[in-house]
Amino acid sequence: MQSTGKIIISQNLAQNLGIPINPYIQVRAGQIILTAELVLSNESGNTYSISSKLAEALYIKHPKSMKLRYDREAGHIHLGPTIGVLSTFLPNKEEFDPTGVQADIIYLSNMGKMVPGQVFIFTPGSINWSNNTTRGYVYKQISADRGVWISDIYPLPDVVYDRVSSRISEGKDSIRSTKNRLMNQPYLKYFNPHFLNKWKVHQILINNPRLHQYLPETRLLNTENLEEMLRKYKVLFIKPGNGSLGYGIIKLKSNEKGDINYVVNRGRGRLRTHAENAEDFMKKTKKIRKDKQYIVQQGLDLATFRGSPFDIRIIYQKDGRGEWQISKKFVRVAAPGSSVSNLSSGGRAEPSKKIFKYLYSRKEIIEEKNREVKVLCQTIALTLEKLTNETFGELGLDIGIDKQGHPWLIEVNSKPRKTTETEYSKTIIRNSFKRPLEYSVYLAGY
Ligand SMILES: Nc1ncnc2c1ncn2[C@@H]1O[C@H](COP(=O)(O)OP(=O)(O)O)[C@@H](O)[C@H]1O
Ligand SMILES: [Mg+2]
Repeated sequence: MQSTGKIIISQNLAQNLGIPINPYIQVRAGQIILTAELVLSNESGNTYSISSKLAEALYIKHPKSMKLRYDREAGHIHLGPTIGVLSTFLPNKEEFDPTGVQADIIYLSNMGKMVPGQVFIFTPGSINWSNNTTRGYVYKQISADRGVWISDIYPLPDVVYDRVSSRISEGKDSIRSTKNRLMNQPYLKYFNPHFLNKWKVHQILINNPRLHQYLPETRLLNTENLEEMLRKYKVLFIKPGNGSLGYGIIKLKSNEKGDINYVVNRGRGRLRTHAENAEDFMKKTKKIRKDKQYIVQQGLDLATFRGSPFDIRIIYQKDGRGEWQISKKFVRVAAPGSSVSNLSSGGRAEPSKKIFKYLYSRKEIIEEKNREVKVLCQTIALTLEKLTNETFGELGLDIGIDKQGHPWLIEVNSKPRKTTETEYSKTIIRNSFKRPLEYSVYLAGY
């Protein structure tokens, strides 16, 4: 029998975990499985150690940080967790922007030190498929505002947390094939596999009757659907299926004569113009829409804060037990004169408590609203996962509250930004980075 090094396990631990007592046993770290010599020790308690030869062959840097479990089904010992955060690139700018993609990745790497096992950032280019390893990066702080990425070789992980941060990167063949290959690894769990498309999400969620009253009526944009929606609603929102940041959103209002006034949102700028009818609108906006997929959605009469509409952004995450929790909740108020609350479109973040107090004087009403929103979030997340058969560890949910106090789902985001600060939120931000890693530990089997 060819074996690599030794694993020394106390009799107690072997018995507790039901490990079969043979001269050799298979040991796995991430996607690497080796046969090792099994040595039983008389040490009291549940202890184990591995020889340096085995640690080296499994690319384990700090054996003490690893947990041990016995995978009965596979019949091997699993040392882990090994958690890889997949990013398209390793941001390494001199100047550190605390709200940029770089901050996201650095936060994650730092939080990785607070969970058991090995956590690293990796990119598609750093994988070595010939031996199931990858180069991984860990951020090392050298002063308050400066740090460096330390690289090392790790096994392909137990769990991949997909942090590919743009739709453009996601669409590249090289990224797509890397992702598929990772997902097909026998012991690998993958979460937040892709960006979400607004039309697809609507079609999925509408299957759950309990969500009907929370989903604004939505159709694919074409002249016929637009005509029909114009007959039903005075205000419509037209949005790119794969859009984000409020970019390219068109708010459309029809008057008694059937004329259409509309506003095209472009970052912080807005273009106001009009069309004679649906057909004319389609013609006039053809250039802006190119051939991209758009949806047409019932316009919600959202509640306002000091005259500006707002919505609630919820960072919804699974915890270390695999259960959904609200990690963060804040309100985004649109800029004066704007109907789009995204921060990149001039919206500003406010604590939700403040806005709710302004809207509702009675504590019971606030509590009831919060409860309803909580149940809504859970129903959305569970429905999405069940019907797509995909795993998500975090979602950004945009929830609007209309003037009657009724909540509506505006958008589900699978790659939410988490660095937005409101007054008391440093710890909340940290926790929102830590939670997906705790969920990763759980997904790995620990
Ligand atoms: N149906 C709607 N009714 C009222 N306001 C809307 C509607 N759809 C979008 N909005 C406003 O536009 C913003 C951006 O829309 P959203 O669907 O979240 O797209 P994006 O992906 O660009 O963030 C929302 O946060 C909200 O302020
Ligand atoms: Mg949004």
